[in-house]
Amino acid sequence: MIVVTGANGQLGKGVVESLIKRIPPAQVVACVREVGKAAGYGAQGVMVREGDFRRPMILATSFQGADQVLIVSVDKLGDASRQMHRNAIEAARDAGAKRILYTSHMGAKPQSAFAAAADHAAAEAVLAETGIPFTALRHGFYAESAMHLIGKGFETGEIRAPEDGPVSWTSRADLAEADAAILAGNGAITGITPPLTASEAITMADIAAIASDLTGREIKRVVVSDDAWIEAKVEAGVPRSMAELLLGAWIAARNGDFAATAPTLERVIGRRPQAMRDVLAKVLR
Ligand SMILES: NC(=O)c1ccc[n+]([C@@H]2O[C@H](COP(=O)([O-])OP(=O)(O)OC[C@H]3O[C@@H](n4cnc5c(N)ncnc54)[C@H](OP(=O)(O)O)[C@@H]3O)[C@@H](O)[C@H]2O)c1
Repeated sequence: MIVVTGANGQLGKGVVESLIKRIPPAQVVACVREVGKAAGYGAQGVMVREGDFRRPMILATSFQGADQVLIVSVDKLGDASRQMHRNAIEAARDAGAKRILYTSHMGAKPQSAFAAAADHAAAEAVLAETGIPFTALRHGFYAESAMHLIGKGFETGEIRAPEDGPVSWTSRADLAEADAAILAGNGAITGITPPLTASEAITMADIAAIASDLTGREIKRVVVSDDAWIEAKVEAGVPRSMAELLLGAWIAARNGDFAATAPTLERVIGRRPQAMRDVLAKVLR
């Protein structure tokens, strides 16, 4: 039996949907914080269990009988996320899972300028401590996240952002499919995976050029200083501490933390991953 946590989230849903095309739905458990929001799974023959990483006592029941548990990382940062990931990993170990999978991030390292990458490195260390087989799925940076970073740039015609670096933007849907394929036994990978990425790394200037081409309007890339970018975010209502945290993504990108590409994702899903141009075409047309 395979338990997928975070099954009400965008990635988790995609994993379950892809997984039940590969193995019988009765072998899949969708683990969610709010069972009431997961009604659709029952009709597909997928069992739903409650699971919240803040409540480790419940997780013993959530993960009971699981051969594999996919722990989808939470949408929080810092100590809160680290404790939740530890709770989930230890609960999966204690429930007797034979393999624990965790959605990590490319460039995960303790000293990363990107706060999430440091949190993922902490989770990978906890996985290694368990002494049981694990797979840290080092997801590429979601292509969808680029849209958040660009903000209204496509509308205004200017992508105003700090200096960046090449990023191997990867679609969330492709990553969900890869996670499902790995859970189902395709291209089994033990330990920390190579970066699961699309096949090219591109800069914001490249994105501006692609967007210009797709829309027929000129979209410029304007590099602003880190300080000016923070001030603009604060003016737009983003708390300063959050703006500073977000700046970390740009710094890590310019440090080259997201520049790697690998053929692993393509091998696991058996087709070419979506390129950023494909993702932009859906958003901009
Ligand atoms: N690779 C990247 O570039 C990238 C970008 C953004 C985020 N991420 C990471 O990938 C994860 C999945 O992405 P997404 O797009 O699916 O995010 P999402 O739609 O915002 O979903 C958030 C996920 O966090 C789970 N979660 C939050 N608090 C939890 C708790 N206390 N216990 C258990 N689960 C909890 C949710 O579980 P429920 O289903 O139960 O609500 C849900 O699956 C994110 O949470 C984040 O860690 C990666």
